[in-house]
Amino acid sequence: MKLSSSLAVIASLIHLVPTTVALVGSTWSMTNVPLTGLLDITFPMTIVEADHISGYYFAQQFNFVGIADVGYTGLQPRPDSNGQAVLHAAFSSFAAGTTTTDKNCSPGADGGPGVSCSVEWNGVYNRTYNINVKTMGNHNWVGTVIDTLTGTEVHIGSWTLPATSGGIVSSQYGFVEWYPWNGGQPSNHCAKLPYQQTIFGNPSTTHAGSVGTQALSYEYGDCVGEVAFHTEAVAYGAENNCGFRGQTGSVDVKFAMQSC
Ligand SMILES: *[C@@H]1O[C@H](CO)[C@@H](O)[C@H](O)[C@H]1NC(C)=O
Repeated sequence: MKLSSSLAVIASLIHLVPTTVALVGSTWSMTNVPLTGLLDITFPMTIVEADHISGYYFAQQFNFVGIADVGYTGLQPRPDSNGQAVLHAAFSSFAAGTTTTDKNCSPGADGGPGVSCSVEWNGVYNRTYNINVKTMGNHNWVGTVIDTLTGTEVHIGSWTLPATSGGIVSSQYGFVEWYPWNGGQPSNHCAKLPYQQTIFGNPSTTHAGSVGTQALSYEYGDCVGEVAFHTEAVAYGAENNCGFRGQTGSVDVKFAMQSC
């Protein structure tokens, strides 16, 4: 019993920090957050450049008062459809006991407990989207993507956390991952990483007196020093880029078997 409870603690801690397979991390923080947490937060995000293929996940994580497991929200490129760009937006809770009746959502998150919601729309590259997470009361949370140029809003999904939960706490991490590699890859995979450039904007909230900051990005995982990583501060957040133009992220399976 002692073992299983410490394993449960380890499992919940794993969700508090970026997974080791991701490439790039970045801390966000908010000042003047009440002990009961924030009722809303907005994460600006710009996919400045990425191939129009599936594989990248640009995500922000957040925690709730009284809940160990994180929520995620973020954007992913998709292949164009009928000559138009398509983006995918995700909004998930990893907390056991999260419920939903939203048609964009389904039970489970990355194979564990929680709820996952997503939507695809004709999103535009190199445009800043505000990803808004806010409570409607009664522990119900809604994720929305807002186009900062047109004001158009796209509903991602909504879910209800356990009644022990409060508002959003004052800091967490964002990350960039190439998720096809999450199952493990051979030693030559880092050079196959497609190029991406994104800006994680400073978060904001309607809570009076709170100011959000997105720190510079950093590399982590098993491709550190091998993916031409760069980060710099920009006026409204932190830019990062990594990877190589013309790569698709796919690796030679025969090499993979040899290297095992
Ligand atoms: C993105 O937009 C900025 C400013 O609007 C522009 O300077 C930059 O060249 C654009 N980048 C790409 C890759 O389109």
